[in-house]
Amino acid sequence: MTDLPPLFHPLTIRDLEFPSRIVISPMDTYTADEGVPNDWHFAHYSKFAMGRPGAVIVEATGVSRQGRITNGCMGIYAPEHIEGFRRITDFMKYNGVPCGLQIGHGGRKSSTQRPWDGSGPLTRANIDAGEEAWEPWGPSAVPLSEGWAIPKAMGQAEIDLVRGEFAQAAVNAVAAGFDFVEIHMAHGYLLQSFVSPISNQRNDSYGGDLQGRMRFPLEVAEVVRAAIPEGMPLFARISCEDGMEGGWTLEDSVVFAAELKARGIDVVDCSSGGNSPKGATNANLKRGPGYQVPYAERLRAEVGVKTQAVGLIREPEFANRVIAEGRADLVAIGRQALVDPFWPLHAVQHFDIDPDFKRWPHQYTWWLEKWDKGIKASQRAAAE
Ligand SMILES: Cc1cc2nc3c(=O)[nH]c(=O)nc-3n(C[C@H](O)[C@H](O)[C@H](O)COP(=O)(O)O)c2cc1C
Repeated sequence: MTDLPPLFHPLTIRDLEFPSRIVISPMDTYTADEGVPNDWHFAHYSKFAMGRPGAVIVEATGVSRQGRITNGCMGIYAPEHIEGFRRITDFMKYNGVPCGLQIGHGGRKSSTQRPWDGSGPLTRANIDAGEEAWEPWGPSAVPLSEGWAIPKAMGQAEIDLVRGEFAQAAVNAVAAGFDFVEIHMAHGYLLQSFVSPISNQRNDSYGGDLQGRMRFPLEVAEVVRAAIPEGMPLFARISCEDGMEGGWTLEDSVVFAAELKARGIDVVDCSSGGNSPKGATNANLKRGPGYQVPYAERLRAEVGVKTQAVGLIREPEFANRVIAEGRADLVAIGRQALVDPFWPLHAVQHFDIDPDFKRWPHQYTWWLEKWDKGIKASQRAAAE
């Protein structure tokens, strides 16, 4: 193992072994009907399973019907969801790939358009075309931006309800065969909108100072931790900063990550932004390879919590360096995996650590080994 590049060192968290440090990032595909996974989801996630990453995190999935972001988002609040996901988790297990579910609530960004329709609030034309609009909830009656729906400011009853829905969603995820859970606390959705002073303008015990604003997400972390088996890892994706004047900062995230860790969160998945219509990640951050890695590095160093880095991690050498240099424990691959679902195995090839193709699906191994030998022999002959 010591000869293996650190990107391929297994990592054990609680009772689960991640065979490598490569995680397929949660990516919503907005293609469900009433939250139920269908053939699209099975085929889409099966590609990733065959690419043999260290884990796959299935896209943002609503803890309630009301908590879905769009009409096309999946849910984990009814028996048909549990049943629908089983096909996906069974195939992940067949391939030996740990699979997590990202559970979330859209908050004031619920009842919106799919990205390819504009990512904005649903319009009359969308509704006439069959989309259903519903009332979004949030910490305060503050819309995301001008022209967006004013969310209902959640009272104690709604807070209690949604907390319970997160716990039940986690129970359902376990029943659906997931190996771990990620709580979506990022990108301007409900839980992130509670921590950020831009969206949380409450003056009760769920608002005000940092402790008050963190209270609801931390309560959710507690109930989800209690709802899943002790040996099951629990991740939380956070927005490490809003990137907006007067917003949530990286210093706040250091405090938040420590509190999450104290409540049994094993991995903090370090993203940013989303609390404005300007896009999912901190709009002010200069884009470049691994542009959010410094977040993962800082939280890992200062809090001593395991972290996952994400954002334009595309090259195997770069991904390996992030792990080798101790900047993060896991790297999440997003769009690059859409382009190349076999990215983890191509990274294996890049480092030339599997000459016999043993890491590939065994149905391919026999053929690829001989194919590769033949190619190399003909290349040698051509060079002579
Ligand atoms: C199609 C698509 C859907 C996404 N959906 C989610 C999601 O469901 N949950 C989430 O936390 N992030 C989501 N993201 C953000 C990605 O997980 C990732 O953080 C982002 O794309 C940056 O990584 P990348 O440069 O490797 O793509 C999505 C990104 C894309 C491209």
